[in-house]
Amino acid sequence: MTVGSLLVADLAIALLGTALWLGGGAAAVARRRRLTRWLAAAAVLATAARAITIIALARAGWWFAAEKVLVAAPLSLAGVAVAGSRLLRTSGDIRSAAVPLLFAGYAGSGALLVTVLHGYPPSAGGALLAVAGVVGATAVSRRVLDPRPSPAVSRAGVALAVAALLTGTALTAVPGAAPGVHDHGYPPESRTVGEPTRQFTLTAGTATVNVGGGDVAAWAFNGQVPGPELIATVGDVLEVTLRNRDIARGVTLHWHGYDVPNRQDGVPGVTQDAVLPGQEFVYRFRADQVGTYWYHTHAVSDIGVRKGLYGVLVVRPGPATGVDVTVPVHTLAGRPLPAPRTERVQAGTPVRLRLVNTDSTTHRYALAGAPVRVAAIDGMDLRGPTPLVDTAVLIPAGGRYDLVFTAPATPVALFVDGREVYATGPVSVNTDRWPVLDPLTYGTGAPVPWSRFDERFTLVLDRGLDFQGLLPRYAHTVNGAAHPDIPPQVVRSGDVVTFRIVNRSPVVHPWHLHGHHVLVLSRDGRPATGSPLWLDSFDVRPGEIWEVAFRADNPGVWANHCHNLAHADAGMALHLMYS
Ligand code: C2O
Ligand code: CU
Repeated sequence: MTVGSLLVADLAIALLGTALWLGGGAAAVARRRRLTRWLAAAAVLATAARAITIIALARAGWWFAAEKVLVAAPLSLAGVAVAGSRLLRTSGDIRSAAVPLLFAGYAGSGALLVTVLHGYPPSAGGALLAVAGVVGATAVSRRVLDPRPSPAVSRAGVALAVAALLTGTALTAVPGAAPGVHDHGYPPESRTVGEPTRQFTLTAGTATVNVGGGDVAAWAFNGQVPGPELIATVGDVLEVTLRNRDIARGVTLHWHGYDVPNRQDGVPGVTQDAVLPGQEFVYRFRADQVGTYWYHTHAVSDIGVRKGLYGVLVVRPGPATGVDVTVPVHTLAGRPLPAPRTERVQAGTPVRLRLVNTDSTTHRYALAGAPVRVAAIDGMDLRGPTPLVDTAVLIPAGGRYDLVFTAPATPVALFVDGREVYATGPVSVNTDRWPVLDPLTYGTGAPVPWSRFDERFTLVLDRGLDFQGLLPRYAHTVNGAAHPDIPPQVVRSGDVVTFRIVNRSPVVHPWHLHGHHVLVLSRDGRPATGSPLWLDSFDVRPGEIWEVAFRADNPGVWANHCHNLAHADAGMALHLMYS
């Protein structure tokens, strides 16, 4: 069982146990003696089963189990003790067991709320608020159900609830330690002069584009989705003028995966101001990394990218040889891009398919008809990639894979999530059941280039209640905080930095660090054994723990965020900062 499914099972059992206790309480109120006993017995079993899932999660990593061990377990034990001891006294009216059973149900509910709303890291404040809720709800139930409540017990209950509530609120209201990154004071511009310059102009504007035979209202660069392909040769200087015609909320250009100087990174409020309607901004940087990249707006990026403000950036080592095709996959207003395309390719021709995932979720790609090698991931060449036959690859949001093969005499076709997008002739095959490549074991290994690490960080990904001022939101959190309250990772130039990403939430988080490629060290404690993997985008699935490292060699303030852009928008974004 994976940790991800264990997390789901644990939540399901907790819900079930809580429902059984509450149901038992209701049955007791209705004086259904047999039903009450059955429900209570089932609740005890569920609680016992939960002990197993909690222990298993704690063994997978304390991050997965912390609040369950510290809050849920004691509350559940209290519930079993109180309800169980009352039920063992068989005589008398079963209705008198109602309050103890409800107490166990409230305890389960309180613990669930701590997990779902508060998550990791656990806090005394959160625990005390849960206790206050449990005691308060029990006191109210007693008043309602007990014909002769003892005033002393009631008063003690109320006093306990109020004390827990006040302490809990005081403890959770302590402001987060995190200063945000402030506007302005942007890094100085780095100028390059005298090299061959490739100039492009990208004008952002609202547009109507035709997708799959229907018109869609989009935001587009130069009226097209995707925007123009920017193709350069290594050594060129790229000079890209960004203009905004009518995107009211502003635009920028972020060179996804391209490790540009900080000033060119295109993050509004961090490296520049958003470019408003009528304004322009010129990006200039040298194309000194070969490979497949992409660009997109980083202003209201969740909406902007989804609506079409993106395009491909390819830097070639020299003149193109053979067939060289980009396949940027996107979902525009629910319709898949690109449109399927067929071209005849002479047998023996080298073919490179540059697959780009510009959506916020993972896509599955499968090439049928020829053995294929994954030559590069995220723009970085792999070492010793072997030919793959009938194998699919999963590309995370923002990620790129370069597939290369020699065109056979028979047709070849590329499928994305089962839909054919590129072919050299008719191919009919179902790729749904093909095995999926694990890039961590693909290609030829090499030792990690560093023997010491200067800085270590851990990012625990979760969900939780977050307040922006007085407005509550259900945020995607990192270490219990949401943007802009997540403390920045501060490093010194030259440091070798590792960070661990732990996903204790039930959804995939495609992680993306700006300005640097990170080397994958391990996943779930198992070292990567394949070709060194230098990534800028990687999927951290539920229950997974990734350990990655990089050298801090590109000074500035860099966004470090989830590339499910809706998650980033809902808080899952922080900064890497050079001191
Ligand atoms: Cu492709 Cu900060 O993003
Ligand atoms: Cu995410």
